[in-house]
Amino acid sequence: MKISLIGYMGSGKSTVGRLLAGKLNLPFLDLDDLIVQKSQKSIAEIFKISGEIKFRQQEREILREILEQNEDFVLALGGGTPAYYDNIDLINENSLAVYLRLSPVEIVRRLENETDKRPLLSHLKPEEILEFIAKHLFERRPYYEKAKIILDIQQLNPEAIAEKIITHLHSQ
Ligand code: S3P
Repeated sequence: MKISLIGYMGSGKSTVGRLLAGKLNLPFLDLDDLIVQKSQKSIAEIFKISGEIKFRQQEREILREILEQNEDFVLALGGGTPAYYDNIDLINENSLAVYLRLSPVEIVRRLENETDKRPLLSHLKPEEILEFIAKHLFERRPYYEKAKIILDIQQLNPEAIAEKIITHLHSQ
């Protein structure tokens, strides 16, 4: 089985993905890590040196390569991946997509102290973050909500989220 985890930055895709992959005995892949490995640059450097459009092209290319492979996996996507090109259709055609859904307030709480590491948030003043994320999430929601499974994860720890996903898999 191929499983793709989608959701905004800070929703725990990588943590949950690693846990879930361990439980299902599947390899864990992280799209951001694969982009970094391939380009030999950090995500922040790619944004700075080549710009976001180039980053989205690389992201799309590596996403396609992963989804077209035969082996099963659990894949953590980048927060923006589903919202570019026809990525969400490619994701849905080739894997089971799970959206880890959080409210803007909860996302801000989780990201507050690490905006400097996030190229899309690093230019914002603390008082601008909530409005930016609320608008951004509003724009991305139609893509995220195309996922086959949508989980509200506000009250759940990574272990409970992974277990919930497994329960959903059994009921598919
Ligand atoms: C992005 C999310 C990041 C990374 C890049 C852009 C986004 O991934 O791909 O900084 O557009 O939301 P994470 O969601 O894994 O932090």
